[in-house]
Amino acid sequence: MVMPVKNEARNLPIVFRSLHGWIDEVVLADGRSVDDAVAVAKECCPDIKIVHQTGSGKGGGKMPTSAKTRHRKMALRLAEAFVTDPVGVVRALPGHISMQVWHDDVANDSEPSWYEHMHELLGAPWPCPEAGQVNAVLSETAARLAARGLAVGRQTYGGYSDGDVSLGRAVWCAVRHMRPTMVVETGVARGVTSRIVLEALDRNDHGRLWSVDLPHPFDHSIHEETGAAVTEALLPRWNYVEGSSRRRLPQMIRDVRQVDVFIHDSLHTARNTRFEMDHVAAVMPQGGVMLVDDISTHDGFVTFTRDHAEFRAIVCPSADGQGQFGVAVKTSRNHPCVL
Ligand SMILES: C[S@@+](CC[C@H](N)C(=O)[O-])C[C@H]1O[C@@H](n2cnc3c(N)ncnc32)[C@H](O)[C@@H]1O
Repeated sequence: MVMPVKNEARNLPIVFRSLHGWIDEVVLADGRSVDDAVAVAKECCPDIKIVHQTGSGKGGGKMPTSAKTRHRKMALRLAEAFVTDPVGVVRALPGHISMQVWHDDVANDSEPSWYEHMHELLGAPWPCPEAGQVNAVLSETAARLAARGLAVGRQTYGGYSDGDVSLGRAVWCAVRHMRPTMVVETGVARGVTSRIVLEALDRNDHGRLWSVDLPHPFDHSIHEETGAAVTEALLPRWNYVEGSSRRRLPQMIRDVRQVDVFIHDSLHTARNTRFEMDHVAAVMPQGGVMLVDDISTHDGFVTFTRDHAEFRAIVCPSADGQGQFGVAVKTSRNHPCVL
């Protein structure tokens, strides 16, 4: 998104708060601001790109070349509206960009028998002997959060949701059946998926979890909830790295060298999902598994599986039927895309 401003330091925090979770790339055209607009913007959005303009006025001078993207028209329309009513534009955004509606390119037909099909992809036994175990972990996790007065489910962490029960089952089975040495996840929040991975690694008596997580940049009151689902006993196998996946994941991948199981549950935009999947795919061995949450609102997962014929993928319904997650298994041969 391109955001032209002129001396808007006071308004920017309001604007960024509304944008959080919706937009993953912001370019600020500074309009030769003489207030703290640029510094405030960098504080609100550390990954922001700043274009120092040469012309005068809000949006004056040369517009940044990043506007020449495939979303150019929308970016420019928004940029024009921003000049007169930045907060109004942001308020209108959710409906405008239809973030929460099903993306056209995503398969509408997730597999009712996804759990069985996933086991087939993993080469794991079916019926799965692990089913009872994961239910116990899920109940204990919910009870632990409830004991701290934390509700579990959709949009309980500053607009983000805890890991869904079906995703939890998939995560458990991927870790138990594949016995990974290295698991990487993006997006921790209260740590439901982190807890499931760590419990499964503990049961395996093998492997580590590295997580990258950007705590909510505006709602600091919920920071103390980060990782609340994870018990002390599980901490020795866990590396928690704070920051955005765009900044931290490339170095993390260089540090761990190989990723056997990957869980994406951070910022669910096509660009960010592809960024993470592409980076991880490069260091994933045959038999590696990716579990990618919230794939129904963008085409990131589907384009990845089209571009990477070495992955076999299925689309799975969330337990509450409100969303979808994807499972992609790296195989030895190139397969036709199954989506
Ligand atoms: C959907 S929640 C994660 C839920 C968690 N996996 C669970 O099962 O409880 C998303 C988390 O990702 C964080 N996040 C948002 N954008 C991010 C980014 N660009 N990089 C890393 N983490 C991000 C959010 O602050 C939040 O903690």
